[in-house]
Amino acid sequence: MTEPSAAPSATAEAAVRPEPRVATEEVVVLDYGGQYSQLIARRLRELGVFSELLPHHAGAEAVAQRRPKGLILSGGPASVYADGAPRLDPALLELGIPVLGICYGMQLITRELGGRVEGADVGEFGRSDLIVREPGRLLAELPAEQTCWMSHRDTVFEPPPGFTALASSTASPVAALESVERGIYGIQFHPEVVHTPYGQRILERFLVDICGCERTWSPASIVDDQVERIRAQVGDGRVICGLSGGVDSSVAAVLVHRAIGDQLTCVFVDHGLMRKNEGEQVIAAFRDRFHIPLVAVSAEDRFLARLSGVTDPEAKRKAIGEEFIRVFEEEAAKLDSPDYLVQGTLYSDVIESGGGTGAATIKSHHNVGGLPEDLRFELVEPLRTLFKDEVRAVGAEMGLPERLVWRQPFPGPGLAIRIVGGEATKERLNVLRDADAILQDEIRRAGLYRELWQSFCVLPDVRTVGVQGDERTYGHVVVIRAVTSDDAMTADWARLPYDLLEQVASRMINELREVNRVVLDITSKPPGTIEWE
Ligand code: XMP
Repeated sequence: MTEPSAAPSATAEAAVRPEPRVATEEVVVLDYGGQYSQLIARRLRELGVFSELLPHHAGAEAVAQRRPKGLILSGGPASVYADGAPRLDPALLELGIPVLGICYGMQLITRELGGRVEGADVGEFGRSDLIVREPGRLLAELPAEQTCWMSHRDTVFEPPPGFTALASSTASPVAALESVERGIYGIQFHPEVVHTPYGQRILERFLVDICGCERTWSPASIVDDQVERIRAQVGDGRVICGLSGGVDSSVAAVLVHRAIGDQLTCVFVDHGLMRKNEGEQVIAAFRDRFHIPLVAVSAEDRFLARLSGVTDPEAKRKAIGEEFIRVFEEEAAKLDSPDYLVQGTLYSDVIESGGGTGAATIKSHHNVGGLPEDLRFELVEPLRTLFKDEVRAVGAEMGLPERLVWRQPFPGPGLAIRIVGGEATKERLNVLRDADAILQDEIRRAGLYRELWQSFCVLPDVRTVGVQGDERTYGHVVVIRAVTSDDAMTADWARLPYDLLEQVASRMINELREVNRVVLDITSKPPGTIEWE
């Protein structure tokens, strides 16, 4: 990417030590700060090849340590000529493995090897027509004309000596190039985004035909691999896992249980701030279906007592977080002194927190499950190498119920932070929980649940006037918030069908005596946030 506004990637500071090796082949993606870098790694994994994202400054040695079958240089926001723009370490081209440069990556290669890259007056952003002039090895068997997605200002005018220009686009004289002899390839467009219809085919060509990868990375292989690693780490130690009801901790727990059986005990703290029936679903899945030793603590009263009189959102978060730790520690103390704690840390958390192996990235980031750093446990983090969609696939593979696997993200402090401007009382929580259940029910019925990143209700502490029957009412307002998003960093309000909205609103008003008005939040993020508090 060369648009100036693209934010530098959070991987810049990421540690570069290898994760414990997985028993599979790997292709490394070096991240030059492009906004789609994570997506490249995800796409490679979708094609069945394990891929890791390393910061561009990781160096050739860190790449070589992984013994990858191929290397991809990502896009990035800089111009290759800008002061301080990331440079290409020439040693990366001498590792004896095929290299594919994408966008900025291709420009770096071109510049390093003596081709001509120049800043163009006109950038090329969005859809563009690609004309394949010479398919070569990379673009073989693809249509001569296709659409692709571009995002750049610098442009390659001439490939380096010895390279073949394969394609051009509306504004790029050289939109793809290769030297089969040297094993170096480049494309100016983004194969990883859906707007490049043949993008996956091109990546597949690179992985399979050029790098010779076997496509063995799959949910089943992940399970086998993790089970082995967990056994190796834990031995006959005792393990504890806090369940939140969300997909990450659930999948982590089931994986660990598969590896070490009843050496694992799960603790589920029901703080009374969950969505409707969620606590029961967790207990049914873990205790009844998977027969995992489970301590379920019904702590609603304790939490509500702590929340009494608390209206400030941060104070609510803090109170809930502290109480959670207290309950969890009390329960842990009753167990046979566990040595290990399971955390559902995901690969995106690892990348974003810049932590490598052993960095003990405790998920404290505004998460009620965040435990204090001085806990004596060693961490077991079976999801550390996985993206969210892989976690879901692993969950489904292991037979977790569909409802748990596809559950939308839910804040640790739960419904308490969705009661805005007032106290989270039992009465209000019940109204909010019932309204939320109606919304989820109708959204599922309309087949839209999985398309939404989150859908939920907010209950502001205000009353509005209404008229029902012949009576004036003074009732609660329920806000509907539904968003689409890839990662919660940005989000758009979901265009829910009017008929669905009407059905939701009329059910809420008819079924919930306390509610007399329903409104829809149409703010995107930014400038809004997803939650209201
Ligand atoms: P915002 O509201 O910042 O939310 O756009 C981004 C994502 O984070 C979730 N969120 C929370 N999660 N504890 C959590 O565990 C919290 O206090 C919290 N606040 C927001 C939110 O649901 C969304 O997925």
